[in-house]
Amino acid sequence: MDFTLTPEHLMIQNLVRDFGQKEVQPTIKEWDRQQQMNPETLPRMAELGILGICLPVKYGGQGFDYIALGLVCEELEAIDTSLRVVMSVHMGLNSLAVLQWGTEAQKQRFLVPQAKGEKYAMFGLTEPGVGSDVANLASTAKRDGSDYLINGEKMWISLATKAHHILWFAKTDPNAKNPHEGITAFMIDAGTKGVTCGDLHGKLGVRAGSTGWVNCSEVRVPQENRIGEEGEGFKIAMSALDNGRYTVGAGAAGIIRASLEASVKYAKERQAFGKEIGKHQLVQQKIAYMVQRYEIARLLYLRAGWLKNLGRRNTRETSLAKWYITDASFESANEAIQIHGAYGYSDEYDVERYLRNSRGAIIYEGTSEIHQLMQAGYALGYREDGELRCELPKYDPKVWQEE
Ligand code: CAA
Repeated sequence: MDFTLTPEHLMIQNLVRDFGQKEVQPTIKEWDRQQQMNPETLPRMAELGILGICLPVKYGGQGFDYIALGLVCEELEAIDTSLRVVMSVHMGLNSLAVLQWGTEAQKQRFLVPQAKGEKYAMFGLTEPGVGSDVANLASTAKRDGSDYLINGEKMWISLATKAHHILWFAKTDPNAKNPHEGITAFMIDAGTKGVTCGDLHGKLGVRAGSTGWVNCSEVRVPQENRIGEEGEGFKIAMSALDNGRYTVGAGAAGIIRASLEASVKYAKERQAFGKEIGKHQLVQQKIAYMVQRYEIARLLYLRAGWLKNLGRRNTRETSLAKWYITDASFESANEAIQIHGAYGYSDEYDVERYLRNSRGAIIYEGTSEIHQLMQAGYALGYREDGELRCELPKYDPKVWQEE
């Protein structure tokens, strides 16, 4: 077993760390206060190649592996969750689903501009009335000649007003005996007639991010935009979540690290009872737990990335990573506030933002409760992974770097 990061991994880690610290950190508090996404963020991420990081060069990507994607997410979220969320929807939930399930023509049409950062991508699964219970979503897609007419509402959609392509899930067979089998996936251009969208404000965290709603009213979509076969939508959504959850878990490791670094710094500056607070054992205990959580987080997400590189199914491992790390990031941010005392409770320090930002990830891309059910299901033998018609392609450096 080799835990060494390659020179390419270290290079991309440094590039993203540098971008975060020099370009994002100085103004992030202000964007967070204003509840706005910095308009420079997406174009800059595109320019740096991050938006196509783990996609093959022949599809406009950078040719790095899935571990690199995890490292990028950790670095981005160590600064602010809003940047990691971009990777979760644009890459994890959308682009990797097209890489996995799309036809060659769809890869050329959708993936290439997304990998180059010319187009941004989002994921339309959650609805006003459906979050965890995916199989019972309400949006519909009805055949009309060689097109589909799509209706429905999607809610809590990251990049709703910013992205160009949405991977939309709708019922093609609302009466299917097994509701999982009645769902189909479509790529919809956000500029299509009948698509409307808007932003949502007032969230607890990720305030410098873009979250909104997207509605479709009689939206005509040609069958060339259908991803996979009719009825394969549930599996496509779940496999996309295997990748989205990976980015969320890896990103949350960044919050743990940032909480730890901020706590160590503050514990050496602040004095109480005649000595720096780092010398007090109860502060040390909190710091020790952050170290422990960070190390476990790294092992869990890197294992999931390693399985992806090998082209092996990683639903269980990714779910475990996402569940553990998001819970651990919330606990770490909370304890970082405790170490900072009253200062941690104000936005003078970053730790209050870490706490607010960490909370959402315990809900989105599978609540912790859903992940507990999954883990128990695997342990008890009630859940097992079936065969898939299309698996996420195994990382092969030669294929990925081929022009
Ligand atoms: N990959 C591929 N196929 C999968 C799969 C996966 N990861 N997981 C399940 N499947 C397949 C199964 O093999 C099964 O196929 P067969 O019928 O051929 O055997 C089929 O899908 C049904 O699977 P399950 O029986 O496991 O389905 P379930 O009803 O037990 O549901 C669930 C499982 C765990 C509750 C699931 O619905 C789930 O994960 N819910 C949470 C959804 C979620 O994460 N929502 C978040 C939305 S996105 C978001 O948050 C982003 C944002 O921007 C806000």
